[in-house]
Amino acid sequence: MKILITGGTGYIGSHTIVDLINNGFEVISADSFLNSDGSALQGIEKITGRKIKNYKVDLTNKEDTEIIFKENPDIAGVIHFAALKAVGESVEKPILYFDNNINSLLNILDNIVKYGVKYFVFSSSCTVYGSPDKLPVDEHTPIQEAESPYGRTKQVSEMIAKDVLSNTNVKAIMLRYFNPAGAHESGKMGESPALPPLNLVPIITETAIGKRDSMMVFGDDYNTRDGSAIRDYIHVMDLADAHTKSLQYLIDNPKALDYDFFNLGIGQGVTVLEAINAFEEVTGEKLNYSIAPRRPGDIPAIYADYTKAKTLLKWNPKRNIEDIMKSAWEWEKVRSN
Ligand code: UD1
Repeated sequence: MKILITGGTGYIGSHTIVDLINNGFEVISADSFLNSDGSALQGIEKITGRKIKNYKVDLTNKEDTEIIFKENPDIAGVIHFAALKAVGESVEKPILYFDNNINSLLNILDNIVKYGVKYFVFSSSCTVYGSPDKLPVDEHTPIQEAESPYGRTKQVSEMIAKDVLSNTNVKAIMLRYFNPAGAHESGKMGESPALPPLNLVPIITETAIGKRDSMMVFGDDYNTRDGSAIRDYIHVMDLADAHTKSLQYLIDNPKALDYDFFNLGIGQGVTVLEAINAFEEVTGEKLNYSIAPRRPGDIPAIYADYTKAKTLLKWNPKRNIEDIMKSAWEWEKVRSN
């Protein structure tokens, strides 16, 4: 069965391609290399022995996007990862975020309906819940006012997918990721962003390897067990597995809802200081960090209740923060060589 992965050379897209291939799917990718250096395609080949065809296409371009579907009328499913994802940048450049994230989605959905694609899986985010009143967060937790234009694009994208795909034969799943981190355990693939990373785990590994002199812990005055903010870090290969299982669920269950959404986290909150500590423990490296003021827009704490994914998708994340740190560090050493 042929699956189109948009953003296939990006971080989560590339790991998902490996998992899909290992589970017998045929994969093609569409990625403009806007925020990846393309090296993931070699990583995928090293791990799976398969060369993936990538369409270097800007998905906001209607004509170019349609070419992918014209040339591959047998696409059965689309997993749509391609999007901009820097929260801070989205505050500075909201038009860029709405233009890119929404127009690419519209073009993809338009072609999905036009070319009779059956399954759609969307890369959403726990950011749709804003700063939740109650933890852990399950799928009944109310959607709150978005904290950033990036968050708004995820909320709006979910709504658009629902509206466009209702009364069609397409079945859709929105996957709300908590904090993806870590790398493929082979050390052959990991996050390779074209721009400097802004997320905690790559900043930790870049500091330890010496690309950065030091790093900051944003806030030690939150109402948490050690004062630093709590997140639910999920290993990228567990996340990849959830995408494969989502597709399989739609394929195997003709009675599955036409539109559904799932939280993907491991259900454990980890503070920033605990994450740093886990890194130091598993790698034996000492991190040079200092405490800094809270980062604007950050929420104190969020972690997932993933019972729904466990029950329906039969998904069980297997890796913890130590596995995340170990694999991220192995990848950083390979990357920096
Ligand atoms: C946010 C979004 C997430 C989105 C991601 C995209 C929420 C709850 N999460 O993740 O949905 O996909 O952005 O980038 O809105 N930190 C430091 N020092 C650093 C970097 C980070 O202390 O140098 C702290 C942050 O303050 C935060 C935690 O580490 O408490 C995680 O930060 P980060 O990795 O950037 O992810 P989120 O902001 O949680």
